Amino acid sequence: MNLFEQQSNEFIPRHIGPNDAETKAMLKTIGVKSLAELIDQTVPPSIRMSEPLNIPAAMSEHEYLKHIKEVSAKNKVFANYIGQGYYDTIIPSVILRNVFENPGWYTQYTPYQAEISQGRLESLLNFQTMVSDLTGLPIANASLLDEATAAAEAMTMFFNTLNKQDHVERPKFFVDREIFPQTKDVLYTRAIPIGIEITEGDYKTSAIDKSYFGAIVQYPNDKGSIEDYRDFIKKVHGAGGYVVMATDLLALTLLTPPGELGADVAIGSAQRLGVPLGYGGPHAAFFSAKDDFKRNIPGRIIGISIDAQGNRALRMALQTREQHIKREKATSNICTAQALLANMAAMYAVFHGPAGLKHIAQRIALLTQTVAGAIEERGFELVSDHFFDTIVVRTDDLASIRAKAERQLINLRYLDAKHIGISLDETTDIGDLYDLINCFENDKDPVAFDIHQDAELNHIPGGLSRTSGFLTHPVFNTHRSESQMMRYIKQLENKDLSLNTSMISLGSCTMKLNAASEMIPLGWIHWSRIHPFAPANQTEGYKYIIDELSNYLCEITQFDACSLQPNSGAQGEYAGLLTIKAWHESRGDHHRNVMLIPISAHGTNPASAVMAGMKVVVVKALENGYIDVNDLKAKAEEHAANLSGIMITYPSTYGVYEETVKEITDIIHQYGGQVYMDGANMNAQVGLTAPGLIGADVCHLNLHKTFAIPHGGGGPGMGPICVKAHLAEYLPSHSSIVAEGLPKAMHGAVSAAPYGSASILLISYGYIRMLGREGVKASTEYAILNANYMRARMEGQYDILYTNHNGQCAHEFIVDLRPFKRSGEVEAEDVAKRLIDYGFHAPTMSFPVPGTIMIEPTESEDKAELDRFCDAMLSIREEIKAIEDGNADKKDNPLKNAPHTQFVVMADEWTHSYSRQKAAFPLYYVTLNKFWPSVARVNNTHGDRNLICTCEPMESYMDEKIPSQALSS
Ligand SMILES: Cc1ncc(COP(=O)(O)O)c(C=O)c1O
Repeated sequence: MNLFEQQSNEFIPRHIGPNDAETKAMLKTIGVKSLAELIDQTVPPSIRMSEPLNIPAAMSEHEYLKHIKEVSAKNKVFANYIGQGYYDTIIPSVILRNVFENPGWYTQYTPYQAEISQGRLESLLNFQTMVSDLTGLPIANASLLDEATAAAEAMTMFFNTLNKQDHVERPKFFVDREIFPQTKDVLYTRAIPIGIEITEGDYKTSAIDKSYFGAIVQYPNDKGSIEDYRDFIKKVHGAGGYVVMATDLLALTLLTPPGELGADVAIGSAQRLGVPLGYGGPHAAFFSAKDDFKRNIPGRIIGISIDAQGNRALRMALQTREQHIKREKATSNICTAQALLANMAAMYAVFHGPAGLKHIAQRIALLTQTVAGAIEERGFELVSDHFFDTIVVRTDDLASIRAKAERQLINLRYLDAKHIGISLDETTDIGDLYDLINCFENDKDPVAFDIHQDAELNHIPGGLSRTSGFLTHPVFNTHRSESQMMRYIKQLENKDLSLNTSMISLGSCTMKLNAASEMIPLGWIHWSRIHPFAPANQTEGYKYIIDELSNYLCEITQFDACSLQPNSGAQGEYAGLLTIKAWHESRGDHHRNVMLIPISAHGTNPASAVMAGMKVVVVKALENGYIDVNDLKAKAEEHAANLSGIMITYPSTYGVYEETVKEITDIIHQYGGQVYMDGANMNAQVGLTAPGLIGADVCHLNLHKTFAIPHGGGGPGMGPICVKAHLAEYLPSHSSIVAEGLPKAMHGAVSAAPYGSASILLISYGYIRMLGREGVKASTEYAILNANYMRARMEGQYDILYTNHNGQCAHEFIVDLRPFKRSGEVEAEDVAKRLIDYGFHAPTMSFPVPGTIMIEPTESEDKAELDRFCDAMLSIREEIKAIEDGNADKKDNPLKNAPHTQFVVMADEWTHSYSRQKAAFPLYYVTLNKFWPSVARVNNTHGDRNLICTCEPMESYMDEKIPSQALSS
């Protein structure tokens, strides 16, 4: 490589951990001569990619940042008054710098290991508290994907509450016509496959009877109007149904909250609380409910518990989500959500406090009423007299108003030929009003308007003015100065173990480097201040990224078309299954509804299938972890007439590339089915093989795993789907795209925004451009090398489950801890918690096999870090051995008491049979970089410990556990 090539390729060794000398040593430990030999022994030849990927060569970080700056200039930053659920906002700099731009916050994993996650758990608890207070409902979850999917979650929750799985008495859901169009879009998508009948109408005149299970209204509504829904809610309740109100947290600082109006659920987006527009996301949606629904709320709920010392400790109250999935009908597949963005919104509320939030809302309301008055004075009519931040103006002269607005770089919302919407936000100031009013001015008179600082907000109806308090907890009333706020954020960050402390080897989660150069552009205004419904001629930079990234992903998957709409892996599954369904239906095969799913599949797979209206049939696994091809054949044959397809994960969740995969995909095709591939393990495929080469028809890609989007402590994510050509026309559509004249696809939207959480696509784009075709392939090879190196180091001391006939694993491997239960009463959880004392996050626990851990180091870890982890595991093995040999007590040992806090280790009293040093500094390297857990082992009384980042293990879908009809819609 010459000097210039070296510069272009500089990112590859920065992303990939091991250097040449380390690689050599690691190969030796594994017992192979070269990386090529290892790959030959690992990836079956029949599915190997023969040609290099057709994606560009690598770019240096500097070159990339120059390039992405140039692309960003194609986007035009207008002042956005479009509204419709997306508002410009001011991110307090202290939050921007210390959360949004801080790997200590954005590289965290979902807080399954509660002891090393107390910081984000605390912040998410703040989020829940804020949502609960503002909406006036007692229970809130810790974020959902977006407002539209949150509305759909409420709809399905009501549906399942009031209907029996085998007997639907109440099939109807009322949708007020004045809810956001994108919410309607997603509601229809989600309703149709499970047989919900949506009736759209005017809530004032609707007739609700006992055939309705629920209704949705928006507050303030799509046209900005503040309506009093009390009578309507009574009417729905009178008929035995439930009501969800879509709402706006900022408006609720001034308005009577939904809970006080009688609503059962409130949903909405927390975007305008300090989270950038980003062309549609990522943003946190919220969901709060009456107490009756506490066991059915979708997503994650953070709860307060105690630790082993009796101290307060937070944890995810997983039972809520688990139970939700276990229900006779699975209604939600939520896994990755929007934790980072929920944390940002929570911090915004902590920083501003109740008075600060109210002042922002009052300012917006005052500016809006000033604009409204000035526009009315100029002879225009408004559609509503009751509003907070949004007005809709009637006009016969839309074109000239639009032209004038655009000349001033202003985006208004053009609802139809005669109506213009104007939504103000936190960034609007008095100066902006001149430009805004000028759009409605005759060009002759100077723009003039009156604004009185102390004016009454007389467009908020008296009967709906908020009288109750909110955010009274001290956390929302303490951190006003930047010093206090900075320290609060840091104090929480210090409680959490993230990638800037040590590797997080979570199998199936691919916690690789999230490089700074991939992240930096996200804060630039040409990416962050773009409204998702801005006109196409303002978003050409985004179009460029979307087109290029779609092409790269098609090339990587060897597929033909891509949808970037789904904003998580599970949403990708759902979108992919609807695509398959639409394709079958286009051929007249409406009855094909059986989805085969191997026992090893992730819990989201069956949950998504049920949501898509399919019946799940579970396929067995063999001893070696492979899919049982005979069982598969028998089930495909048995269900041949109704076979929709199969969902497989490749390499399988057991961490092996099954040589039989092509046989499997052939069988499914033979019986008329389609093959869905769960792309969670794509980090073991890129450049070496591809879903298109194993015989799949559609797959999702977790960009927050393989393609470097950070996990954010439980989201954001992106789960685009790629498909073969025959499925292309059935990919998700979106009302905003249809509005721009593009063809309507077979099924509607799965996300609120047309390109999901669009701004984080930049991260994956940057990842591919800086690594280039050689670098992405090398990443896969090193992911396999790192996993096999660790496997080789641990073999002999631990049983490794599921390797291939050459003894190699894929990019992850499973360590069996079950034998230690018998030999020393040691549980998998004890090992996981003891790893914390050694400075590590536990690997994935008990998925896909209970009593095991699954280790996925990724390519980004260097040999020294892998060695530290292996040393920790081997040292723990010695500790287990001491128990087995009777040299350590079965109850009082470092494993059972793990993790050890500073408080415990430094207490005056030490009663344990091992030393304090052994407790806290069991190996030398720990003394150099000690991470102290802030609480001792958290008391999980609800048995959540056997669950990982996800939904219920497949076993619960086996016939004997759930009646088979529960799995059909
Ligand atoms: C195998 C597998 N499938 C699906 C998912 C769901 O993806 P997401 O969390 O993005 O919804 C996961 C998440 O970890 C997974 O490991």
